[in-house]
Amino acid sequence: MVSTKISLSGIDMDNPIIPASGTFGYGYEYAELYNINILGSFSFKGTTKDPRFGNPTPRIAECMGGMINSVGLQNPGIDKVIKEELPKLKECFYKPVIANISGFSKEEYVHCCKLIDKEEQVGIIEVNISCPNVKKGGMSFGTTPESAAEITRAVKEVTRKPVYMKLSPNVANIAEIAIACEDAGADGISLINTLLGMRIDLKSKAPVIANKMGGFSGSAIFPVALRMVYQVYEAVDIPIIGMGGVSSAEDVIEMIMAGATGVQIGAANLVDPYICKKIIEDLPRVMKKYNIDKLENIIGGAHR
Ligand code: FUM
Repeated sequence: MVSTKISLSGIDMDNPIIPASGTFGYGYEYAELYNINILGSFSFKGTTKDPRFGNPTPRIAECMGGMINSVGLQNPGIDKVIKEELPKLKECFYKPVIANISGFSKEEYVHCCKLIDKEEQVGIIEVNISCPNVKKGGMSFGTTPESAAEITRAVKEVTRKPVYMKLSPNVANIAEIAIACEDAGADGISLINTLLGMRIDLKSKAPVIANKMGGFSGSAIFPVALRMVYQVYEAVDIPIIGMGGVSSAEDVIEMIMAGATGVQIGAANLVDPYICKKIIEDLPRVMKKYNIDKLENIIGGAHR
C-alpha cells in the first residue's frame, strides 16, 4: 500500500492535492460535483478587507497551453466571507482550509488576518503578495525582499495560525524574496502565482483583456514553476506549497521532487472540474510505477 499522506505545519493531510485560490470558489460549488473531502485541503478565493467587483471585462484570454486572467480579486469582502461563505463551506468540508488573503496596504492584510485568525476551520493563512491584476498593492508587495518581509512581519504579529507567503514569479530572484519571508517569520512559502502576460486581438488591434495584461497560468507554465520551487527549496528551510500548471499525478510527483510538500492545482480545475479527484485517484498508480512508497519520502528528492 502506498502512502500519499503529507503534513504541512502540523496539519496532517490525506494527500498533497490542494485546489488553488481563485479556481475553486469557497468549495461548496464543487461539492455539488463530488465529495470534496477527498482533497488534502483547498485554498479559497482571495479575500480582501472590502468587497470588490473586480476588473472590467473581458477578463479572460485563451492561449496555447493555458489562459490569461485579469479578475482583479473579485470577492465579497472579509466580513461576508466569514459570515456567509465559511458557514456554507463547513457544511460540506470538514478538514482545515487555507484562507487566501490579499490587500492594498499593510493595514488591510493585518485587518483580514486578525479576523481570519478567529476562524476555527482555517488551518493555514496564505498571504497573497503576488496578484498581478491590481494597480496598487497585490504583486507590488511581493517584488522586493523588503516589502515581502514587511507584510510577513505584520501579519505574523496578529495570528497564531501558520502563515504561508504566496510569491510572484515576476521577479528576478525568487529565492531572495523567499529568504526575506522566512527571516521575517513565515511558516511556509506558496509559489508560483501567475506570470504577467497579454494577447492582442488582430481584428481590433487592441489588447484582448480590458486591463491590457493579466496573469498567465496553465500547463505551459509548469516548467517555470518547477524551476522556481526547486530554487526556493535550496534557499529556505520552511515547507513549500508548489503550484503552476500542475495537471496530472506525474506533475504532482515532479513538484514534490523539486521540493514541494503540498501541491496546488489551479487552471486545470477550470478545464476539468473533476481534475483534482482524478489526480488523487491516479496518484497511487503513478507512485507504484516509479517505486515510490511514501510521498513524504520524496520531498526535494531531485536535489543532489
Ligand atoms: O485577479 C485575480 O483575482 C487574481 C489573483 C491572483 O492571481 O492572485
